[in-house]
Amino acid sequence: MNRESIISLLGSNWTACQRLIRESLQSDIPLLEKVNSDLLSNGGKQIRPMLSLLVSGALGHPGEESAVFAAATELIHNATLFHDDVADCSSLRRGKPTLSAVVGPSAAVLVGDFWLSRAVCLVTSRPHQQEAIELFSKTLSDLAEGEMLQLQMASDAGTTEQDYRRIIYCKTASLFETACRLAAVSTDAPQALVDAAGKYGAAVGIAFQIRDDIFDYQQGEIGKPVGLDLREQKITLPLLGALAGQPEDVQQRIREQVRQIPDRPEYCGQISRFVIEHGGVEYASRRLDDYIAEAESALAAFPASPYRDALTELARYNAVRTK
Ligand code: IPE
Ligand code: IPE
Ligand code: MG
Ligand code: MG
Repeated sequence: MNRESIISLLGSNWTACQRLIRESLQSDIPLLEKVNSDLLSNGGKQIRPMLSLLVSGALGHPGEESAVFAAATELIHNATLFHDDVADCSSLRRGKPTLSAVVGPSAAVLVGDFWLSRAVCLVTSRPHQQEAIELFSKTLSDLAEGEMLQLQMASDAGTTEQDYRRIIYCKTASLFETACRLAAVSTDAPQALVDAAGKYGAAVGIAFQIRDDIFDYQQGEIGKPVGLDLREQKITLPLLGALAGQPEDVQQRIREQVRQIPDRPEYCGQISRFVIEHGGVEYASRRLDDYIAEAESALAAFPASPYRDALTELARYNAVRTK
């Protein structure tokens, strides 16, 4: 099932979600209108609203509120990217200069704040606004905590696989989980199905970030820079996988090199080669497959339908996606 067939399965709910995203961003400030229109004309994959609307379709009859939650999720996701590209000093996103590179970091943070606040406006006065505010707030604090933990870990190069799991849950999977839970809530699904949707979303989100971290060690046209994680001293799963099973002195030497990257950027190339030569990418791919299996097993609680089939395919897509 490709993107077009998922969009056609979602039909008018997808169209409603796209309309809500556009309408939410209206402003009478010409500069903001211009920036938003440029951003909307170069949107991303929109995987989160897709998952969200598929979960609503699998568990009931998606209505206006399902489209609202899907749209709010995509607005929040974009806001976090605007902020993330400032935090990561990144100059390329979706194959184009980042918002921060175009308007400067201060304006990019403000535009991110605007998208975030419009997401909040969108979910208020809805039948399940209480749940939406609780879950989105939890995710936003997870995001900030995940980013701070990542920063803290970067300076001492001590990241363990457990730390890594926590960071990627917080910075990426929490939003996937919230999107899927709220999608279930919008159809008044029973608690057991809301929980299954949350489990599915969290596992897909982790798999999604592992794939993203593998990209950083590969040469490909993904529309954003590669090799950035290591330059910022971020120890991700491919490196952890390459370190696993190495003698203690080797592990310590490599971690020491990570610690020295700011003064010795040439270490990045050496560490990258170490990762490739010691099967780090294969290790990360195997862990990614475990999370895909976890996502699929959560879906067993859902009734069989074309929506559930599409959710299975979207989970598996993480193993093969190329951007
Ligand atoms: C990028 O997310 C940030 C991560 C969580 C890895 P996406 O890959 O979903 O970004 P877009 O919206 O499609 O560009
Ligand atoms: C992804 O962060 C999650 C966010 C909070 C945006 P990354 O820094 O790993 O994502 P990319 O590689 O810039 O998209
Ligand atoms: Mg980042
Ligand atoms: Mg980044």
